[in-house]
Amino acid sequence: MANNKTGFTSSLGVVLAAAGSAVGLGNIWRFPYICGKYGGAACLVVYLAFVFLIGMVLLMTEFVIGRRSRHAPEKAFPTLCPKHPSWKWVGLFGMFSCFLILTIYLVISGWTVGYFWESLTGTLAAIPNDGFKEHFDAFASSTWKPVVFLIVFLVINLLVILGGVQKGIEKVSKLLMPILLILVLALCVRSLTLPGASKGLDYLFHPDFSLLNWEGILAILGQALFSLSVGMGTMIVYGSYIPNESNILKTATWITVCDVCIAVLAGIAIFPAVFAAGQSPAGGPGLVYQVLPLVFNSMGKVGMVFAILFFLLLSMAALTSSISLLETLTAWLSDRGMKRNRAALIVSVLVALLAIVAAYSFTGGPLSGITPGGKNLFDWIDRLTGAYLPPMGALATIIFLGWVMKREDIRDELSNHGTLRIAWFPVFYNILVRFLAPLALLVVLVAGIMGV
Ligand code: PFF
Repeated sequence: MANNKTGFTSSLGVVLAAAGSAVGLGNIWRFPYICGKYGGAACLVVYLAFVFLIGMVLLMTEFVIGRRSRHAPEKAFPTLCPKHPSWKWVGLFGMFSCFLILTIYLVISGWTVGYFWESLTGTLAAIPNDGFKEHFDAFASSTWKPVVFLIVFLVINLLVILGGVQKGIEKVSKLLMPILLILVLALCVRSLTLPGASKGLDYLFHPDFSLLNWEGILAILGQALFSLSVGMGTMIVYGSYIPNESNILKTATWITVCDVCIAVLAGIAIFPAVFAAGQSPAGGPGLVYQVLPLVFNSMGKVGMVFAILFFLLLSMAALTSSISLLETLTAWLSDRGMKRNRAALIVSVLVALLAIVAAYSFTGGPLSGITPGGKNLFDWIDRLTGAYLPPMGALATIIFLGWVMKREDIRDELSNHGTLRIAWFPVFYNILVRFLAPLALLVVLVAGIMGV
């Protein structure tokens, strides 16, 4: 399917689009509260190890599979191993994960766009300091607000996808990623100059290993994979759009470094401000919507500007990621022969329906009474997509690269047909791909599932 006419136009385009996919709600919404829950810097250390030793290896793995096959996941695996067509199920599993992640993404992005709107119109600024939790609950359980905003967000996604890979995804990523970096840096400067900010930095950079258990390690691994958008086939699709002359190692390194930097910067922007306002950092998923607006309000007039900038930042980060999810599902259907625009439309309608159901499952919402196992539907999907599905998809994908695909094909792809020197290849292939990454994935996954 994809070739240089329909894929990304340059290596820079690849880096920005894939970094756009990687940098998202995971970095700004989820990473800080996971860090808060599992020991601050202790979590950061484990996270960095997972990101570089497993996440980045998987990113390269997906790029190799995508560019070598030039197909979306369902066909990519059998194209590279025609003897065993059942590997297509790994690709299909990825599509299932993407669909669920996109659902969660739409719900949270809907809140984010809603909060952006409310910070623009001054609604947020008018709320008394003890009213943010109530406001969030009322917002999330309202019958129309989350739905309207999630649909607005989805329509923007759809327009980008209908624009195509080069004129839609690549252009939007090239525009939004630099703005995103500037915004996050501006927020860091403000946060760090607040009185009492150093407590937040202490919290982020002083490890407390006593808070780390197996469940935490699984959550951190899930987060490392989720954050790099690996384990569900998205990077196989983006890999299929990578030009032949791009260097896969360099591309993956840039994307990983960008992703880690933005997550850490988001922590630096959020924690000092939270401590400076006398709030608790372990606010869970509500941290961004219940604690931060309070922090902004306590900054006086300028706080309003920061609220607008923050929710704009979060909406933009969410957009470049959800685009990659919608693109993955669209590319999958069009790789099966469906017209691209029709595929994008069908996926959008289906995912919107599930997202509305998930959005209604909040406390006070119309479907909040349905709580199998004590969790509502949103929490179930969030837990599944945050901790379990990415490591499972990742494990199968890396086993494919290390034990099924031909070693020479991998070397050929990573060296751009012998034109690049890749002295690191034996370590990458013999140690990381075949043993370290799969073993680590397996151990953490089994221990986490068994609740050791
Ligand atoms: N990497 C995104 C984030 O950190 O928010 C989430 C994501 C996007 C996961 C795309 C998976 C994906 F395919």
